[in-house]
Amino acid sequence: MAPRFQPDDTLYKRRNTLKVEYVPDDIVGRDNEIEEYEAALQPIINGEYPDNIFIYGKTGVGKTAVTNFLLNELRESAEHFGVDLSVISLNCDGLSTSYQAAISLVNNLREPEHHIAETGHPQSKVYRLLWDELNKLSGTVIIVLDEIDHITDDTFLYQITRADNNGYIDNIQLGLIGISNDSTFREQLDAKVQSSLCETEISFPPYGTEELQKVLEQRADIAFHENAIEDGVISLCAALGRQDGGDARRAITLLRKAGDLARAENAETVTTDHVERAQEKLEAQQSMDIMRDLTEHEQLTLYALTTLAAESATPARSRVVYQLRVARDARLRGRRRT
Ligand SMILES: Nc1ncnc2c1ncn2[C@@H]1O[C@H](COP(=O)(O)OP(=O)(O)O)[C@@H](O)[C@H]1O
Ligand SMILES: [Mg+2]
Repeated sequence: MAPRFQPDDTLYKRRNTLKVEYVPDDIVGRDNEIEEYEAALQPIINGEYPDNIFIYGKTGVGKTAVTNFLLNELRESAEHFGVDLSVISLNCDGLSTSYQAAISLVNNLREPEHHIAETGHPQSKVYRLLWDELNKLSGTVIIVLDEIDHITDDTFLYQITRADNNGYIDNIQLGLIGISNDSTFREQLDAKVQSSLCETEISFPPYGTEELQKVLEQRADIAFHENAIEDGVISLCAALGRQDGGDARRAITLLRKAGDLARAENAETVTTDHVERAQEKLEAQQSMDIMRDLTEHEQLTLYALTTLAAESATPARSRVVYQLRVARDARLRGRRRT
């Protein structure tokens, strides 16, 4: 008998390039933002004191991709012109306090065998260790804090933006790049931190259909074989991606899901029908994710409302919704006990 799983690559050339982790070599459709970003990074190549930069915009609008791309270019240019430059990147996803961020940064700067424990140090010691590590470097040091909005207190940003003025660091010229998915993050900062972190602000707006089309075309070229995608597939993914908030990550995922559907059906090409069905699946998945995050009370209210809507009984008075909710709750509890 033939093996159950057989390699098949009639549609995909490199499916991995449609995965979230893939870093594109080239950025398309973000020319204005790149120009502003470049100008903000220019002092570094001149050997001048770097500006702090604050980047903000919704998820999937290219903040991380553009930052990685430009910092790679900056490293190459620095090497070419003999500029002493170190870039330290920290993703704050999974961290929630300044304390954790400071420890992560210390460990980022140390060899694995000299990492410090994630808890149990006095705060002052953690910052002292951080200044020690930074003072071992020379020239310009750029610290990139991606998804900075996960850090819920100001201490870390306060300390690091004041480190030079306070005489904690000497040998180096320190610059900070903060990237946030939450545009309200800046307003929550202490006024002093805000004015120093946000010396230069660059906003990344959601992608329009045309820009999504460019991003998708570029990605499809490397991901799929020639002629594997029918006309209209890319523009449909772009239009749906625009509707869903101009998020390139979601648009690329939609293209991959459409490709996967086509492959599962042994189709010769990816069609707009595959895209439409993939979109339905993604939407259902999203609704599930949202519902899972609701509290039990919210879930019950949603249940009551959808029941009423199914009976064409909406809009309904809150009393009616509440009665249905209580009845459903009682039934659920009864079932759990048995
Ligand atoms: N302008 C672009 N050109 C090419 N790929 C892009 C572009 N913008 C975003 N992407 C891709 O879309 C996905 C989301 O982008 P990302 O930079 O992670 O968004 P953000 O950091 O704003 O949430 C990534 O896979 C990225 O490679
Ligand atoms: Mg990002």
